[in-house]
Amino acid sequence: MPNVTFESPLLHKNLTVYAIAGDTSTVLSVAEANKVPIPHDCRDGECGSCLIEVVTLTGKTMGSLLTEKEKAQLKSLGKITPEEIRRAEVEDVAPRFRLACQYVVRDQDILVKFTGEPGGA
Ligand code: FES
Repeated sequence: MPNVTFESPLLHKNLTVYAIAGDTSTVLSVAEANKVPIPHDCRDGECGSCLIEVVTLTGKTMGSLLTEKEKAQLKSLGKITPEEIRRAEVEDVAPRFRLACQYVVRDQDILVKFTGEPGGA
């Protein structure tokens, strides 16, 4: 079962929760289920307000499929390079920044950082 640890100035201390591997929970839905206030708006990869930074803590550093909307939004925010996109798609290596509403939790422990400002990870 993967652990998802949230780190933010909005939290008194880091919060680690268990997510169920293999389902389709996004980081945003895991956060909401645990009352972690990641900013969000559209929930559909179009506004960029749910930007997060993701660090793999254990297990293989692997990506979670980048949707076309997520790629486009991260590019427009200047938060992903063409090389990071290539590595995510070809080598399954996670890029540093993601959208919480698009990132599906996989079987690995991750640290999710967010500032609390919409799009401000
Ligand atoms: Fe809009 Fe995630 S909530 S991109």
